[in-house]
Amino acid sequence: MSTPSSATAIAHPNIALIKYWGKRDVPLNLPAAGSISLTLAGMETRTTVRFDPTLTVDSVSLDGKDVTGKGAAKISTFLDRVRAKADITTRAHVESANDFPTAAGLASSASGFAALALAATRAAGLELDTPELSVLSRLGSGSAARSVIDGWAQMHPGQADDGDDAFATQIAGSDHWDLRCVVAVCARGPKEIGSTEAMNLTLDTSPYYAAWIEDVTRNLEPAREAILARDFDRLAQLAEASCLRMHACALAADPGILYWQPATMAIMRRVRALRSAGESVFFTIDAGPHVKVFCPADREAAVLAALGEEPSVERLLVSRPGGAARLI
Ligand code: PMV
Repeated sequence: MSTPSSATAIAHPNIALIKYWGKRDVPLNLPAAGSISLTLAGMETRTTVRFDPTLTVDSVSLDGKDVTGKGAAKISTFLDRVRAKADITTRAHVESANDFPTAAGLASSASGFAALALAATRAAGLELDTPELSVLSRLGSGSAARSVIDGWAQMHPGQADDGDDAFATQIAGSDHWDLRCVVAVCARGPKEIGSTEAMNLTLDTSPYYAAWIEDVTRNLEPAREAILARDFDRLAQLAEASCLRMHACALAADPGILYWQPATMAIMRRVRALRSAGESVFFTIDAGPHVKVFCPADREAAVLAALGEEPSVERLLVSRPGGAARLI
């Protein structure tokens, strides 16, 4: 190991087309099933980690504000894993900034932990390969395991108790398929229930949970094939079904988990109307109110114009396939 120092990394959020919703191990964030995602350019988390021998505790800031309490403890626990790997005890300064809304269902935890994993390991003098970086990122947030991958990623649930075989691999790079993802921001502020709590509640109380996990497992290979074949209509069908089934399963928990706002439903309806009118378009929604709308690159303007007519939407962001987490 070289001398601990400082490193800065950038990572993008990713959006799942075949969703991850349910853990086989909660502390290790081991998913109960696989998932498939696309890393998104145009939104990023930038994180600097600097190990400093004068510190007695880690100091963490997010978007210029000091992080304390549970949030800071989660980062310190994560850094402890890096320190253990690097055989150091030095505390660190962590400065992280998102250029998109934090904790609102725009996958800030995915880009956040992928950037933190890369910056912290490099600052600690470690050089992890992609599967190792994916495993480490997963320990921060299940979906972060996919944000280390360039383009289209498949998360493997693995079988090992320690989770060392639960990481993401690439299906195809960001240059494979020129798609756009229009993000319709449908509400302000943080979501009402975090994804881990919501997943655990779903597992414990939703009568549809077992059927959901079986369905995900069945749809992984068809979705992978649709991506490799650039079959938009097939991917549209699989992705919308995965999204609606994930939300149906969560809605059936007790108490039911409801992430949608009126604007969420309005955009879903618009997407369905556009598709009926012949447009190649589909939606997907994570653990929050925002809707991500996919279309071929040459239909971006038409889709933006149609979604822009929806008055309840806060704003529209356009994203394209994005690259792997990287050092700068
Ligand atoms: O990584 P987490 O624990 O925030 O879970 C993310 C879950 C979803 O975003 C709803 C689905 C997914 O596959 O990313």
